[in-house]
This record gives sequence, C-alpha cells and structure tokens, in this order.
Amino acid sequence: MRSLSRVAVGAPLVALSLLHLAFGSIDGFKDGVSNYSFPDDFIFGVSTAAFQIEGGWNADGKGESMWDTYLHKHPEYTPDRSNGDVAADSYHKYMEDIDMIKNLGVNYYRMSISWPRILPNGTDNNINHAGVMYYRTLFEELLRVNITPIVTLFHWDMPTPLMDLGGWSNPKIVDYFEDYARVAFNLYGDVIKTWTTINEPHQHCYNGYGHAFFVPALLSHGVGEYLCTHYILLSHARVYRMYEKEFRAYQKGRVGITLDAFWSEPKNPDKPEDVDAAKWYLQMHLDIYAHPIFSDVGDYPSFVRERVNNMSLQQGFSRSRLPYFSAEEIDSLRGSSDFFGLNHYTTFLMSQSNMEKEWLVPSLDHDAGVKVEQNLTWPLPGPEWLTVYPAGFRKLLNYIQTNYRIVKKIPIIVTENGMGDKGQIEDYERCSYFNDYLYQVLLAIHQDNCNVQGYFAWTLMDDFEWSDGYVTKFGLYQVDFEDPNRPRTPKLSAKNYRNIVRTRRIDFNYIKPPLNRLQSNRL
Ligand code: NOJ
Repeated sequence: MRSLSRVAVGAPLVALSLLHLAFGSIDGFKDGVSNYSFPDDFIFGVSTAAFQIEGGWNADGKGESMWDTYLHKHPEYTPDRSNGDVAADSYHKYMEDIDMIKNLGVNYYRMSISWPRILPNGTDNNINHAGVMYYRTLFEELLRVNITPIVTLFHWDMPTPLMDLGGWSNPKIVDYFEDYARVAFNLYGDVIKTWTTINEPHQHCYNGYGHAFFVPALLSHGVGEYLCTHYILLSHARVYRMYEKEFRAYQKGRVGITLDAFWSEPKNPDKPEDVDAAKWYLQMHLDIYAHPIFSDVGDYPSFVRERVNNMSLQQGFSRSRLPYFSAEEIDSLRGSSDFFGLNHYTTFLMSQSNMEKEWLVPSLDHDAGVKVEQNLTWPLPGPEWLTVYPAGFRKLLNYIQTNYRIVKKIPIIVTENGMGDKGQIEDYERCSYFNDYLYQVLLAIHQDNCNVQGYFAWTLMDDFEWSDGYVTKFGLYQVDFEDPNRPRTPKLSAKNYRNIVRTRRIDFNYIKPPLNRLQSNRL
C-alpha cells in the first residue's frame, strides 16, 4: 500500500489503552486485565523472514535472490538506499536470535528458508552444503531449547535465475517449486513438522507483478499479476500433494499456506453500494486465494471470474486475463492446506468507483472497481498504510470462520500481526497495538467460537522492511544497523509480549506510558 500518501493523524494509539484504564472493570476486563485468557494449548510465537534478517547475501556459496540483484542495480529503490546484504546479520548471529526468542517465553519460531541459499541456481541439480548446514544447525539449536521452528518455503526471495525466466508467471515454476520443496522436506522433514509453502501471495503478486511497489517490480498490471496468482496457487497445491504422497506417512507433519488480508469496511455503512464494495474488495484480494483452497467448491470465486472475464472482453482481449484451472487442478487445490495461516495488519474503507487517477488499466484495482481509503480518525503511529483498527481483526477472523466451513476442521493460525514505527525502545504504541489486537483474538475465540489456535507476532527484531529499507521498524527488539555488530536491545513491547505469553492474559496496565507522554499525545 505504498501508494497512499502520508496523512498525519493526531489521535495516538496509547489513547486506546486509556479507555481500558479508565473503566477499571468493564465487560471482559478486571482492573485492566482481560478476563478471558488464551487456552493452555494456544501457540504463541514470533515470526521473521530470511531475506529481511539474514544478510550473508553471497556467503558460502549462496546464490542471488531477485531482491539482491534488483537492489544492487537500483539502490534508489529504497528511501535509505539500503539492501539486504547484511540486514540484521542473522546468518552469523543466529545464536543471539535464539536467546531473544527464548527470552520472550514463546515456544514457536516462524522463519523462512532462503531458496537460493540452499539451491543457488534455484534448481535441484546444485545443492549448497554450507546453506544446508546453516538451517540444520539453526533448527537443532532451536529445538535444543524447546523452540519449535515453523518453516516457510517462500517468503519473497525468488532465486534470480528463476526470476529471469518469469518467476511465478512462468508455468514451469510449478515444477521448480516442487523440486525445491522436495529437497527441503528430505533435508529437514525429520525435525520440521509444520511448513507453510508461500507467504502472502496476494501482496507478492499485486505489489511485485502488478505494481512496482515490491521487487520484481514488473508492472505487469492486470496480466502478470493474475499469472502470478494462478501459478503460485498451482505451485502450492503441487507441493501440498507431493508432501501428502511422499512424506506425510513417515514425517507426520502438516503443510499450509499463509494468506494476508486487510479488513475491509464500507466507507458509509448505511450505503448499500459501499457495503457491496467492501465485499468485492475481500473477494478480489483475499478470496481469490482462499476460495480455491478453503471453500467446499474450490476454484476462483464466481464474482472474481465474472468480473475479470467481463472487463477483459470489454477491453478487447480474446481471452480472460485470469487463467482457468482444469477440473483436476480445482480438485488438487481444494482442501490443500492443513491450517489457515493468516497475516493481518490493518483496515481500509471501501466505496465503489469506475476509475481513480492512480489506477492502471487493465489492473486488479480497475477490475475490482473499489476505491480504497483510510479512516483518518484512526491512529496512524507508523508507516503510511497502517492505521490502527483492532476491531477489524475480529471481523476478519469471523469472516474466515464463516465463509470457509473447512476452517471448522482445521485451525486458523495468525502467522503475522504487528506494527511499524521509527524503532524507539520505548514503543508504547506497539505495546498498545499488541494488547488491543490480541484482545480481539480473545473475543474471537471466546465470544465468537473462532478456531484460532496460534498467534505469531511480527517481528522478532528490526529488519529490512522491503521497499521501506530500514526506515520502518517492526521489531520487538531494536537492531542498531549503524553498528557493524548489529547489537540487539529489547524494546518495551518485548517485555509486554513476554508478560502476555507468561500469564496468557492481557494486562493493559503492565506497561504504562509516562504521564507527560499521554498528555502531549492527547493534544
Ligand atoms: C507482511 C510480510 O510478510 C512481512 O515480510 C512484512 O515485513 C510485514 N508484512 C510488514 O510489512
């Protein structure tokens, strides 16, 4: 959502917590502590991604990912002209990372494998032993201290040689992704029991293939973005079925996918057109991925199919820009996930529109016909796209639970949720964000019966925030990127999260912003 222009909003996030403090005991709270608690078997964890933290971009035989190659060629792409060459240097400092995870008290760590670190060319004819050993050691060290790694195969760092062939827009990628996954399952399946195939396919295809907000910056709007969607979905299904056939019986693990969704509110809830627009948005951005996998019938949602077909026809294309699945592919995709991995950050307001000046034609934006705006009364503590509206999280969880009946049988696991800022240690806004968003998870579990079984905070430490470089920080730990040793320091939010994990409740009084900060924030 980098296209949104920055809007300064006065209302501070800390004010949200004031509400809880002031009421003392209202429904759901007693003396600032949530009455509800997280179930004993609820999974708490913390998430990272390889490219964002590892560095070691060419260490020990690693190949280049498309982000390495692109950022070396286009240093102007990030506002601080930065790249992932060193990042938080987790390639060398992973033992410190493990101490930090342990210190949070969580028992799960969601991380990703860098595809080109173990397969430098992207293909399985050349396996990089040093890269293989890096992850092997990391997994074993995590397990030694009782932290279970959950591993994502693709968190956006496509090997450059495969990107040069079109990346996810090339149908052949389905085979290459399967080969890579098989290597990973063979190497690590004895210790890794939860895998996610792909992280946030929507953000990846929309921003990287449809726009230039992310690498590969293809700007293939309306065409490449749907090819990416299509072949990413098929790649996911192929890997899920391959695991089922070749590994599940003896490795006994589970495989899922992580989808992302902003919650979508009608701009004017009394206007039926806006109510429809909010539904359309979710269909075009979330359901386009979720429906083929998690619905009973499978395939793309009929709304999406009709919309893109009609627009393609009107625009003079002789075929739909959204490819079709065969009957076999629909079957293979349907039910191809053992859990619903969900990343959620924020909410937008929707209304209908035929054209906006920033829309490209053709494009998913134009096909959707939904104008996306921010609610300027909601706090905006960090990046321009992230307004804070905790209630949207509960609504989204309910949307998934209600629309995807399969979710009754499989759990929802929140694989990411968090907030960005400038990286200050005294991150009261982040404490409030986590308190308020986690409270919505409690309500979804206890009042709405949503089958949410886990939550991973984004992210362990400050890292390379894609096209924002190191300007925006999401970490529970601060990393000093000016220091070659990349020292890490816990922020207040680390302490706060540890307390939630330990007590299984949310104590809104645990971290109290100093009075002067509250007052000045209230102005
Ligand atoms: C979701 C992505 O998975 C992650 O890589 C990114 O840093 C966060 N959103 C915050 O923007």
